[in-house]
Amino acid sequence: MSSSVIVGTQWGDEGKGKIIDIMAAKADVVVRSSGGNNAGHTVVHGDQVYKLHLLPSGILYPETLCLIGSGVVVDPAVLLEEIKNMNERGVTCDNLRIDARADIIMPWHRLLDKLSEEFKAKQTGVNIGTTGRGIGPCYTDKDERIGIRMYDLVHPEVLKKKIQETGELKNLIITKVYGGEACDLDAIYEEYKGYGEKLAKYMADASVITFEAYQAGKNVLFEGAQATLLDIDFGTYPFVTSSHPIAGGACVGTGVGPKMIDEVIGVGKSYTTRVGNGPFPTELFDETGDYIRNAGGEFGTVTGRPRRTGWFDAVVARYAVRVNGLTDVVINKIDPLRGLPKLKVCVAYKLKNGETVTEFPANFMDLVDCEPVYEEFDGFDEDITNCRSFEELPATVQSYIKELERIIECPITMLGVGPARDQVMTIK
Ligand code: GDP
Ligand code: IMO
Ligand code: MG
Repeated sequence: MSSSVIVGTQWGDEGKGKIIDIMAAKADVVVRSSGGNNAGHTVVHGDQVYKLHLLPSGILYPETLCLIGSGVVVDPAVLLEEIKNMNERGVTCDNLRIDARADIIMPWHRLLDKLSEEFKAKQTGVNIGTTGRGIGPCYTDKDERIGIRMYDLVHPEVLKKKIQETGELKNLIITKVYGGEACDLDAIYEEYKGYGEKLAKYMADASVITFEAYQAGKNVLFEGAQATLLDIDFGTYPFVTSSHPIAGGACVGTGVGPKMIDEVIGVGKSYTTRVGNGPFPTELFDETGDYIRNAGGEFGTVTGRPRRTGWFDAVVARYAVRVNGLTDVVINKIDPLRGLPKLKVCVAYKLKNGETVTEFPANFMDLVDCEPVYEEFDGFDEDITNCRSFEELPATVQSYIKELERIIECPITMLGVGPARDQVMTIK
């Protein structure tokens, strides 16, 4: 029996979907434990490209149970659409289960996400740059203990009462605070009752299934969404999401204890990207940044926004090693760096007060206008997308990876050189 947590080590979009898909081939259970349809995980099988938002990235394997854990916020319309699209492509999704405790995204969450972003932009000139999917407002209701959960969705009389109670409060906020248009609560009830009828067959207890599978000697994979630097506590607050994408979130969002985690695999890219606002010390605003964006196809899977790009940040990577307790690191997307004469790696930050730090600062204000301290390595010109072993890689790439490993102080055990599931290599 074994269990692995897969987490993002940067600001998201590190290629987690690809790694989970590869590892899911040997997994009996894949469980998503945080976030919602703010995630966009890409899985490539031959000429087929799947963009998954709520469905766990193991869904293509009919024998693998795919769980949506209690820590996930579920937009039922999005999930049903995703299931329908997969059905049309021959994927049954009969292996899907949703934890009864998962919170449900309601129309007022999406509306409040938009209104709050507009308000912040007007008030301070800068907002978070959320995905607009209602993620933050849904977690807010959960914390306020007025959320509507999966088990409410399948009990119409409870659902009706909760929609009236919570909806009334939300309508007051929407109309009186933001001057927006109230939600039609009767129409929402009819709509969501219908979702409950369709989703009832998937409802289960993800905690029990995961625990029993592990006890029975099966392989369990915890699929991380978002990433370390977007964590509500350990990310660049307030420019973060509202959940716990770090490794500890896998336990909280599934309902299992930390002793059930055998390995924690951090996925990163050989450079850094970020979507949305917030500090990004190694960001490039020049032609190198554009080069990386184009070579790596760095445009958002969820919103299509161009991703901000920058050099690999080892301060961030070391931070991810510590807060997640990483046992292994995967470095994806080395291939897009081809053609750059020099590759830079940030090893420290020089703060505005003159101090040089190697630990990631707690206060994001320390990151504003800080100067990255770089080490520089030779680039490569060769096409590496067909390399399948470390030894096949050009000497410059081998040495770049070895240097990264030295700097981040964690074994790099897998490399990605293209989007396909076979474009990876393991390093012994
Ligand atoms: P996730 O959110 O972490 O699952 O990542 P996304 O799917 O949002 O973004 C990663 C993008 O990079 C997707 O388009 C992947 O198909 C692609 N990708 C993953 N690994 C590699 C790689 O090693 N090389 C290249 N060129 N593309 C990759
Ligand atoms: P995956 O799983 C990249 C970012 C948003 C925004 C901030 C808050 O594909 O790596 P939210 O809608 O969650 O309230 O937005 O978090 N964000 C992501 N960025 N990849 C993701 O997921 C993200 N999920 C949220 O862009 O800056
Ligand atoms: Mg993504």
